[in-house]
Amino acid sequence: MGEPCRIAVTGKGGTGKTTLASLLAASLIPAGTRPILAVDADPNANLHEALGLAVGETLGSMREETFTRSIPPGMTRTAFLALRFRQVLVESHGLDLIAMGRPEGTGCYCFANNLLSEAMETLQRDYRLVIIDSEAGMEHISRGTIGRPDLILVVTDPGMRGMRTAVRIREIAVSLGLDPGTMHLVINRDRGTPSGEGALPLPLLARIPEDPAVQDADLEGRPLVSIPPDAPSRRAVADLSTKILEICRDKRKG
Ligand SMILES: Nc1ncnc2c1ncn2[C@@H]1O[C@H](COP(=O)(O)OP(=O)(O)OP(=O)(O)O)[C@@H](O)[C@H]1O
Ligand SMILES: [Mg+2]
Repeated sequence: MGEPCRIAVTGKGGTGKTTLASLLAASLIPAGTRPILAVDADPNANLHEALGLAVGETLGSMREETFTRSIPPGMTRTAFLALRFRQVLVESHGLDLIAMGRPEGTGCYCFANNLLSEAMETLQRDYRLVIIDSEAGMEHISRGTIGRPDLILVVTDPGMRGMRTAVRIREIAVSLGLDPGTMHLVINRDRGTPSGEGALPLPLLARIPEDPAVQDADLEGRPLVSIPPDAPSRRAVADLSTKILEICRDKRKG
């Protein structure tokens, strides 16, 4: 079955990473037979809400037991973790979700980060695509939590601060030896005003328009995936999905 194509959604806070990750996941479900894995790598988990799924346990909440409670006799730690990861997984139609969550009490984030790496490593073989919704900034890239994604989408608003964050994300990725060729810019909440494309920090893969349907869903607490397929944001994401599938196909060949 081989390795899945891994797509990480990164960028400045509040630029629309979770919005994009959920709409992308919904758009990519029909494209294949094997399911998609959606990974909520934001300790303040909210991807499930955008996807209209309920999350019980997160990896962060596994902290205690994995080390204090005993692993069943005759079972290796690896086998035990694999079992527990599958229990944390939320299964839906064509899509499974795993959330990192936050460690309980004074627990260290590095523990949850490590569990996330291990969970992705263990689970990913069952999927054709993995979509990772990151927290704002560069944490997961700089810590290597999400491994080496095949495609890093850097979401920005049309403003300069988002673009500057994109420049920093690229610098960090390059300094970690990640291939800058995997990084692409997505301008979200586009209002059609020209943003000097010549000066963009990364190659532009998509512009997602400002869409009142996204705001309405958010205000009414409805899942984003409930907005109509012909809403402007969904159409733009559908085009983006086609490009992503092409990039993933090329990766496989290359
Ligand atoms: N294309 C769009 N049109 C209209 N509103 C949008 C669009 N994209 C995102 N928003 C709104 O912007 C806000 C932030 O979106 P979102 O939560 O997806 O950002 P984020 O980057 O995941 O934030 P965080 O850094 O906190 O995780 C939300 O209120 C969302 O409804
Ligand atoms: Mg988010």
